[in-house]
Amino acid sequence: MNELKGQDLSRAVAELNAGKLVAIPTETVYGLAANALDVDAVAGIFKAKNRPSFDPLIVHVSSASDIDKFAVDVADTARKLAESFWPGPLTLILSKQSNVPDLVTAGQKTVGLRMPDHSLTLELLKRIDYPLAAPSANPFGYVSPTSAQHVVDQLGDKIAYCLDGGPCSIGLESTIVKCVGERVEVLRVGGLAIESIEECIGRPVDEVRLSSSNPEAPGMLSSHYNPGKRVVLIDDLSDLARFAGSRIGVISFGPDWDHSDIVKQVNLSELASLPEAATKLFGALRLMDDPSVDVVLSKLVPEHGLGRAINDRLRRSAVSE
Ligand code: TXA
Ligand code: MG
Repeated sequence: MNELKGQDLSRAVAELNAGKLVAIPTETVYGLAANALDVDAVAGIFKAKNRPSFDPLIVHVSSASDIDKFAVDVADTARKLAESFWPGPLTLILSKQSNVPDLVTAGQKTVGLRMPDHSLTLELLKRIDYPLAAPSANPFGYVSPTSAQHVVDQLGDKIAYCLDGGPCSIGLESTIVKCVGERVEVLRVGGLAIESIEECIGRPVDEVRLSSSNPEAPGMLSSHYNPGKRVVLIDDLSDLARFAGSRIGVISFGPDWDHSDIVKQVNLSELASLPEAATKLFGALRLMDDPSVDVVLSKLVPEHGLGRAINDRLRRSAVSE
C-alpha cells in the first residue's frame, strides 16, 4: 500500500510534476507545496487550505542566486541578509519579476522568497526545475504543523504525499522582512530573531509591523493560530484562581503550575530555554484541542530573541475571546 507520508523523494517529485500538492518539511513548519509557476497547482493550495485568495504565498527556492530569477531591483541589504541567513528562517519580500504568477502573490508587485533549511526539501528543490509555493500546511486560521503527523491529521485527504522530515527544528514560521532600497521592515516576527538581523545589517531595523490588520502581510490576521479553544493569557499565577471550576489546560514555561483544576499541562521548557519553547509551542496548542479541556491558560515569555515570536503567536492564539 502507498503510505501517505514517507521519505520517497522520487514520489514527491512525480506528484509535484503532475501538478499535485505535496507537504514538505522545513526547519520552521511544514509547508503545503506545489509548483509555483503552475497556476492550476497553486489554485489547489488555496482550495485545500480554504485560504482567501488575497493572502500571498511564499516561494521556496534552492539557492541565494535564485533571487535573480524571480525578483528585480534587489537592494544590497537584501542580498546580505540572504547570504547570511539562507538556508534559514528568513523570508525576503522583494519586487517580483513577471514570471511569478499573480495568484502566488495575490496580485501584489512583490514576491516572498525563502530558501528553507531542511536536507530533504533542499534535495527535492534540486531535483525539480521550478520553485515551490508553500504556505504552512494547516487549514486557514489553525495552528501551523511541526510534524508530518500534524499535516496528515488535518490535510491527509487533500495532499498527494507528505515528505516526512521529522519534527521541525525551529518550530515557528520564518521571519518576514521587506527590503525596499536600503529600508528594512519586519512584517512578521518568526524563527530568526530581530537581534540577529540587526547584527547583520549593523543598525536597528526601520520598522517592526505587528498590527493584526497589517495590510502588507494579509496572513497576519487576528484569530490565527487558534487551537479551537478559548486561550487566555494571564499576567500572574494568582489569576489562575479566577478559572477554578473549569477544566484547565496550561502551557507553561519554566516551573510547572500547580492547581487542582489543571487537567493537562505542557511545559514548553522547564529550563526556560526560548529555542526549546519555540519547538514545542504549536504542538502544545494542538494538544489543548481536546474535549477534556475547557479553557487554556498561558503566560507570555521574556520578550527577546525567539520570545518575541513566541509571544506574538500566543497573543494571536488568544485573540478569539
Ligand atoms: O516558515 C514559513 O514561512 C512557512 C514555511 C512553510 O516556509 N510558511 C509560511 O507561510 O508560514 P504562510 O503562507 O502560512 O505565511 C506566509 C505569510 C503570510 O502572512 C503572507 O501574507 C505573507 O507571508 N506574504 C507572502 N508573500 C507576501 C508578499 N509578497 N508581501 C507581503 N506578505 C507576503
Ligand atoms: Mg500560515
